[in-house]
Amino acid sequence: MKSKRFAIRTYGCQMNVHDSEKVSTLLEDAGLVAAADESEADLLVINTCSIRDKAEHQLYSDLGRLREWKGEREGRIVGVGGCVAQQVGDRLLGRFDHLDFVFGTHNLRHVPKMLEGAVAGRRAAWIGEEASQARFDLPMRRPEAPSGVRRKAFVTVMEGCDMFCSFCIVPSTRGREISRTAAEIEAEVRALALQGILEITLLGQTVNAYGRHDVRRGRTQAAGTMPFAELLARLDAIPGIERIRYTSPHPLFFDADLIRAHGELESLCPHVHLPVQSGSDRILESMRRRYTRSRYLEIVAGLRAARPDLVVTSDLIVGYPGETDSDFEETLALVGEADLVDSFSFKYSPRPGTAAADLPGVVAPEVAQQRLERLQALQGERTLAYHQSRVGGNALVLVDGASRHGGDQLSGRDLQHRVVNLEPGSRGDVGPGSVVSARILGATPHSLLAEPLPDAASNVA
Ligand code: SAH
Ligand code: SF4
Ligand code: F3S
Repeated sequence: MKSKRFAIRTYGCQMNVHDSEKVSTLLEDAGLVAAADESEADLLVINTCSIRDKAEHQLYSDLGRLREWKGEREGRIVGVGGCVAQQVGDRLLGRFDHLDFVFGTHNLRHVPKMLEGAVAGRRAAWIGEEASQARFDLPMRRPEAPSGVRRKAFVTVMEGCDMFCSFCIVPSTRGREISRTAAEIEAEVRALALQGILEITLLGQTVNAYGRHDVRRGRTQAAGTMPFAELLARLDAIPGIERIRYTSPHPLFFDADLIRAHGELESLCPHVHLPVQSGSDRILESMRRRYTRSRYLEIVAGLRAARPDLVVTSDLIVGYPGETDSDFEETLALVGEADLVDSFSFKYSPRPGTAAADLPGVVAPEVAQQRLERLQALQGERTLAYHQSRVGGNALVLVDGASRHGGDQLSGRDLQHRVVNLEPGSRGDVGPGSVVSARILGATPHSLLAEPLPDAASNVA
């Protein structure tokens, strides 16, 4: 019998992207094959995000349109996972009668069983919390075909969030914090290195709180874990791992050892994405972020002292309830003071069940929109200025693939995680998966333009 084909549509953060990879592996192990395109698929899984109202509504509009997709061929199946699935649960089945199964963020490993049930006509929603290490017990992604050029991988170190920032739905969609053991993480990274992976990104909602949940509950470091900076040192020592990144750290857990690690560990990249949310202490307090503007600036200064070429990027929210013009001015000023090279900025979106959803002082949508535009204009100028400051210097680029600009231009990321478009010129040996030293020739607000240096490149593809 011809194997069933599956496709996965993924929204949200890197954690979701990685969860979709895990679901793909499970489905392949169950005998399905990845469809080249959704139009060829028998099973479509939507991995959802709930961080803002718009993200949640995306699912409802997708599901509306999928009624037709499903009707086009007998036996087609639709499953929904991720943060909206966790939040809404089996009510989704009630609302959409063409939806076959719903799986929560702790239930990835049940997807093949749920699919089997759906084929037999049983609709189900599994959103139970799995508080044991069992939820990390998933098959590892197999190495790609020998000709493949998979050089980067995500590695989960912790999941869940106990911070309960007033605006954020994640603690209810991802559940309580839980860390994998250091031994499991190290074994995975060693296996990835043997598969040719040279860049890893460690994932966790508050990744640098790794192993610290029990500390906050008055106990010692969680069994089998170690302080985050020590974990980084362990992974740095693994042969073949050249680049280590992590996302997202929380300022509250950014200790002196982690700052020092950035000056000491060779493979730790000179880029930290450190969400700050606001530049106003009053707003930070209401957000329950548990740090001040000055503490944030102290961390950033410490990082730069440890590693002068390090770049800090961030997340910012405008229009949080009670945010005044002067609070917003403090956020604008922080972008300069912290020298943020880039940031994601969002208009505050009230989320069900969160503390801020009931706060007075709602900011008018047009005011929030104006603030967002001012913030993004300022950030755009600063990003461009940083890119321009790099012109004439060098970048070490890990090539991802073809550039969006077409021709034979390639695109990759440098150590600071900036997009670098490469004119390969006479260097026919440079392609996806190469690590190449390049001279920076030009800058735009979104990327650098570079050409490979003639000899100094190491081509590992
Ligand atoms: N764990 C990370 C944040 C993950 S969510 C941290 O603590 O920093 C990614 C970003 O979405 C957040 O940093 C925040 O800027 C934004 N965000 C979260 N909830 C939001 C909401 N209700 N409205 C607008 N933006 C939100
Ligand atoms: Fe959300 Fe705050 Fe947890 Fe980040 S630390 S995921 S913003 S609750
Ligand atoms: Fe979205 Fe869930 Fe990630 S809400 S941002 S997919 S943790």
